[in-house]
Amino acid sequence: MKMLKTLAAALAVCAAVTVQARPLEDIQKSGTIILASEGQYAPFNFFQGKQLTGYEIEVGEAVAKKMGLKFEWKTVGFDALLTGLAQDRWDLVIASHAITEERAKAVTFTAPHYCSGGQIVSMTPAIAKAADLAGKTVAVQTGTTYLDAVKKVPGVKEVKNFPTDDAARNALGSKRVDAWVTDRFVAKEMISKLPKAGFKIGDMLFIEQVASAVTKGNQGLADAWNKALKELIADGTVGKISQKYFQEDVTCK
Ligand code: ARG
Repeated sequence: MKMLKTLAAALAVCAAVTVQARPLEDIQKSGTIILASEGQYAPFNFFQGKQLTGYEIEVGEAVAKKMGLKFEWKTVGFDALLTGLAQDRWDLVIASHAITEERAKAVTFTAPHYCSGGQIVSMTPAIAKAADLAGKTVAVQTGTTYLDAVKKVPGVKEVKNFPTDDAARNALGSKRVDAWVTDRFVAKEMISKLPKAGFKIGDMLFIEQVASAVTKGNQGLADAWNKALKELIADGTVGKISQKYFQEDVTCK
């Protein structure tokens, strides 16, 4: 019994050492919040030359400023972002993650900074609805809610995974797949940028709320983020950033 207790105590110490999210007070003391994103998901987060930019980059920076903090960005592949929280590599991830039950087991979500959904894109009006995906090959980015959603569509022949959403789009553009499922605003932006590429917008498969994530249980940081975000939505700052990238307000109504 005593040995078991000692073991439990030792394990608790290990856990405390490995998962050591910086509480708000520590971030405030250091003066700088470390933010992480992907940088390959225009117009939400992307590189313009060497400059990381996009809707959620500007929103993230505005929130950090409102919290009285400086910010530093890290960019990594989409699938490494949430795990990096548990490894204490950054304080907050803002990279278009939808709030899902599965993810909420591993991280704490903030309030959403946009509401959107997964949309079917193809090269023909004949592939526009979920039922049209039966017997078809569909491209999605690995680790996304699009992957989960397409897996649930009955009769889909194959779901092809790509490390980035751009790679999934390119697979459709070169007709290696029949359809691509992506964010509705990503699709909208792409059509307006490449009007002659032949992409056709189909139905939305599902809707979702997109938020930032902090290390599981780092509620103090989430609360402070939410307060600042709420103020910036209320005073029109976020709406202005949204208009700049989408010509509409993408915040959740
Ligand atoms: N909204 C989708 C999801 O929650 C896609 C996110 C893709 N984000 C990115 N940075 N590539 O899974």
